[in-house]
Amino acid sequence: MKRVFALILAVCVALAAWVVWDNFADGVDTRDEAAAELARGQTSAATDATHTVSDRVAQGAYLARAGNCVSCHTVAGQAPYAGGRALDTPFGKVYASNLTPDVDTGLGTWNAQHFWRALHHGRSKDGRLLAPVFPYNHTSLVTRADADALFAYFQSLAPVANVVPAHTLRWPLGTQAAFAVWRSMYFKPAQFTADAQQSPAWNRGAYLVQGLGHCAACHSPRDNLGASGDLDDMSGGLMPGANWYAPSLLSAQETQLATTPLTDIVRLLQTGSAPKAWVNGPMAEVVQNGTQHLTEADLQAMATYLQARAQVALREPTEQDAPAPVRKVSLRSAQNGAAIYKDQCAQCHGDQGQGQSVVLANGTRGMAYPPLAGNRAVVMPQISNLVQNLTYGGFSPVTHAQPQPFGMPPFVLTLSDRDMADVLTHIRQQWGNTGSTVTEFDVGRVRVLQVH
Ligand code: HEC
Ligand code: HEC
Ligand code: HEC
Repeated sequence: MKRVFALILAVCVALAAWVVWDNFADGVDTRDEAAAELARGQTSAATDATHTVSDRVAQGAYLARAGNCVSCHTVAGQAPYAGGRALDTPFGKVYASNLTPDVDTGLGTWNAQHFWRALHHGRSKDGRLLAPVFPYNHTSLVTRADADALFAYFQSLAPVANVVPAHTLRWPLGTQAAFAVWRSMYFKPAQFTADAQQSPAWNRGAYLVQGLGHCAACHSPRDNLGASGDLDDMSGGLMPGANWYAPSLLSAQETQLATTPLTDIVRLLQTGSAPKAWVNGPMAEVVQNGTQHLTEADLQAMATYLQARAQVALREPTEQDAPAPVRKVSLRSAQNGAAIYKDQCAQCHGDQGQGQSVVLANGTRGMAYPPLAGNRAVVMPQISNLVQNLTYGGFSPVTHAQPQPFGMPPFVLTLSDRDMADVLTHIRQQWGNTGSTVTEFDVGRVRVLQVH
């Protein structure tokens, strides 16, 4: 008996030792001299390439946009990157750090090594394991040169003193021990290795989508412990703490990227709208703060990678692609849906769901109100986003192409669950759309999860 006990104890100690080693032995030398050494090496290499410091800062600013770092690290209306935004998780709230170079509350005393370790290993300056809400499984792929450019950019900002509140995660989930175990299960520092079988554009796209872009952080399903799928799993998922469904970027039923012309994918990421698609909710933020600022070549690369992935997936049909069961619509519901549409929606979305275009600030014509006919988001099997949109209304992203976007009013006070179900069924089944019927029960199920 004693020997069994001793054996169990030994196994536990060995496991604990492994978890500690796995998390804390990252081999990054964070002494100032090490950082200076590295910087010296890079400066000489950089001078050869006639790169100046300001080039590096500009490059860092560009990469920060590719990573949409500003969205999480800024409280709306306050100084960019000063941190303090609360991010909801099913386990409590996590507060994003102050990335400005303030000595007491930000990154003022950090060197490039500390910053690299945060992105690559998910550890803070003092060695603390960071909450994985910071998508460091993705930023881990970022190259050393790109991490240094990002660091140069953040250090060039004006310091802002802002004390970030402590996380309020449920005990024991917020402890370092819990983070360590979680990381040993789900996190491994990663490196991007180009696929020699693929084109340079595909590889550049893969680097941006899987790394800084962290598209899979929203577009992949999460398990009960909050872990998302692989860095390149884009099979769709409900966002944790929000009630938005980030659709599968691989599925022919959802975003249909396999058959969307490349130029339309580029356009969607650049302007927020394209024939058959229109971004909203959290994706509007991604376009507004992130993708619209990327170069044509980088967007083309991302589109190339996304489309190639979707085309491979197309050859392996999944359960998700099975058509939804058709439920009959009662005459009363059909009439109610049509009447609500005519009274409350048609003035913007058009009698035939064709949407409406207007003359934009730059003199060209552009869509102001999205078409609902032939719109992928309208017929998607998952209805969360439609209910979110109808309840709270919303805005399209502010972009260079559309500096003053049009809005949709909230219907939270005027439409019941029943009305929402009827009008959604109407737009999903008119004008050639072939979406499934929505019931009052379906709408209610989404609305109980809505944050008030
Ligand atoms: C989804 C939200 C989110 C995004 C996007 C995000 N971060 Fe963060 N980040 C966080 C949160 C939350 C923390 C705090 C984690 C903690 O304290 O445990 C954090 C922490 C950090 C830290 C560690 C700071 C410290 O004091 O230890 C660095 C550095 C950082 N982020 C850089 C970035 C960069 C660079 C980007 C863009 C490429 C980025 N983050 C994008 C949420 C985000
Ligand atoms: C913060 C979460 C989040 C991140 C990060 C994110 N998305 Fe999304 N995305 C969403 C949500 C939610 C939707 C559904 C709403 C909509 O249709 O716009 C969406 C929709 C989309 C659509 C479909 C738009 C349509 O209407 O057909 C595409 C394409 C897309 N995302 C691509 C990307 C790419 C590429 C990235 C990485 C650069 C990315 N997303 C990153 C949340 C996110
Ligand atoms: C004042 C004009 C206006 C009215 C009225 C209006 N909408 Fe909208 N709608 C918009 C705008 C602008 C957007 C794009 C911004 C956004 O997604 O919130 C939009 C977006 C949508 C979307 C999302 C499309 C997509 O591609 O993701 C749906 C669905 C929708 N509206 C349905 C309705 C329904 C149903 C009604 C009536 C109950 C309605 N709208 C009334 C202006 C309007």
